[in-house]
Amino acid sequence: MKFFVDTADIDDIRELNDLGMVDGVTTNPSLIMKSGRDIKEVTAEICALIAGPVSAETVALDAEGMIAEGRELAKIAENIAIKVPLTWDGLKACKVLSGEGRMVNVTLCFSANQALLAAKAGATFISPFIGRLDDLNIDGMELIADIRAIYDNYDFPTEILAASIRTANHMKDAALIGADVATAPPAVIKAMASHVLTDKGLDQFMADWAKTGQKIL
Ligand code: E4P
Repeated sequence: MKFFVDTADIDDIRELNDLGMVDGVTTNPSLIMKSGRDIKEVTAEICALIAGPVSAETVALDAEGMIAEGRELAKIAENIAIKVPLTWDGLKACKVLSGEGRMVNVTLCFSANQALLAAKAGATFISPFIGRLDDLNIDGMELIADIRAIYDNYDFPTEILAASIRTANHMKDAALIGADVATAPPAVIKAMASHVLTDKGLDQFMADWAKTGQKIL
């Protein structure tokens, strides 16, 4: 499973990228707002740092506006994936932009039917939002499994990009189901390294080592 980082924070992206943990980046209007940066400026910096797809989201609500904004965002760098929402207009924009050979990430997906339409419209990525469904007591992971089954039934090339990931368990479950990509905030990716027994075991080893009075260096 590829790891995308869900942030527009350059320092966080750089730290994870140095560890080889970043296959791509996703941003959205809320993350751009949080960064306090200009969308084109910060996106260009991310694209220069990361070789993989960097999603930049359109904000127009009509297909024509999304297409125009998508073409403008795509000028930033070769690795831009244009993000459009899963609305009827978003699907129209997806069809046109993907027909021009551009990467398109269809976002705000909350049902398997929506994902089916996005694949038919030529989406490069479909972004089902796990956490926001879980918030409503609807199993977000079940949606990932449904989309996996449908895409496999018909060999759709659209990649499932599990989004709105809130926990390390979401990452594990998305990988078990076979999501192609998961995008997560840096803190969630770091949390995957934590285990209480690792900490406990390390404490014990350190205490015993101190008793030996030895040094390695
Ligand atoms: C990424 O593409 C999505 O915009 C993001 O994962 C949404 O996450 P949230 O539901 O935590 O805002």
